[in-house]
Amino acid sequence: MRLDHGIAAKQKTSPLVLLLVVLTWLLSLPTAAPALANGLAGTPPMGWNSWNQVRCHDLTEDVVRKAADALADTGLRDAGYQYVVVDDCWQAPTRAADGSLRADPTRFPHGIAELADYVHSRGLLFGIYAVPGSRTCAMANDAYPASGIGSLGHERQDAETFDRWGVDYLKYDWCNADTVDGLDRKAAFEKMRDELAALPRPIVYAISEYGVSSPWTWARPVANLWRTTNDLVATWDSVLATIDQQAAVAVHSGSPGGWNDPDMLQVGNGTLTADESRAHFSVWAVLNAPLFAGTDPAKLSDADLATLGNAEAIAVDQDFAGGQGRRLDAGPGYQVGGTPGGEGGSGVVLQTPATPPATVSASIPGSWNVRDLWAHRDVGTDVSATLRPHQAALLKLTPR
Ligand code: GLA
Repeated sequence: MRLDHGIAAKQKTSPLVLLLVVLTWLLSLPTAAPALANGLAGTPPMGWNSWNQVRCHDLTEDVVRKAADALADTGLRDAGYQYVVVDDCWQAPTRAADGSLRADPTRFPHGIAELADYVHSRGLLFGIYAVPGSRTCAMANDAYPASGIGSLGHERQDAETFDRWGVDYLKYDWCNADTVDGLDRKAAFEKMRDELAALPRPIVYAISEYGVSSPWTWARPVANLWRTTNDLVATWDSVLATIDQQAAVAVHSGSPGGWNDPDMLQVGNGTLTADESRAHFSVWAVLNAPLFAGTDPAKLSDADLATLGNAEAIAVDQDFAGGQGRRLDAGPGYQVGGTPGGEGGSGVVLQTPATPPATVSASIPGSWNVRDLWAHRDVGTDVSATLRPHQAALLKLTPR
């Protein structure tokens, strides 16, 4: 078959192949608005977030401390996983008498400031979760028994609290603030942006409204990253559905300081096999996605640790060459994506949803030296790989 941009892809043994290409591709980009001028997230932020690991009621300060320890001890911190983010359900059921937020005294008996200190002492940065409306998502979805813990009407006070506690990263999550509180997304997210900007402390600002109002078209001057999808769950179908959603979004590429966020990683979780986790990670790398591990870093299998810690794959994620990896072609069971702009190398992800091992190849104009970033070796000049079902190859192509 002939693909857009002169790229041809074919599968030799099965009609069901998923193919993605990370490619230094000299396409013109849409003009992007300037990124949020806080000087942060020059590359897609990386870290760990509690939500995909423990969700709501199992969140404790111990879980967070152990995650920080394991990030340091496994080498993931040094591979780039910097931010330890406490998601929803850290809050006490009500605010203090002076209106300030406080931590749940049972599950966070030492409070957030001490926890942030501990995270910092492990050479990591600390993040927290809040919402612009009156209700957090867990109050609606996880029966979290709290009231009045949203930041609506408390934006300045909460920003100052986070500053005082040593917060380096804020995840600000929509949670129906339109239907429940009548808020406008852009205005509400801008309000907290401005409060954060007034603080002495640099705080990465991650917003989440699940892609509903196409934030990739307006959020670049508002936040450092913006969710593009609903929640990713730990199944292969969810991974594939999220990849599909990114196809339309990537043309509104992220840029240094402002990133499309297809949601936190599910590597190692749910029903994902090691191959599926690796394929998921490969595509997130191609997309220059923020990389937030969401599983217990102390209990990772060797395969999943090798996935999350693959320096060559992380380098693809962190190497923004002027445009986010985008889908260049798709057919039954395969996709081709590429990264426009920049210099030098490119890469390929190949996956087979079919049962037999299949050889997948892509014909890309030019002559290439090909390196397999999972096998960590140069594999010649053919852009092809033989793959198990749901396996991915991430290939770096360097002009010969
Ligand atoms: C939403 C977000 C998740 C998580 C939960 C917390 O579902 O998309 O990432 O933060 O809320 O309740």
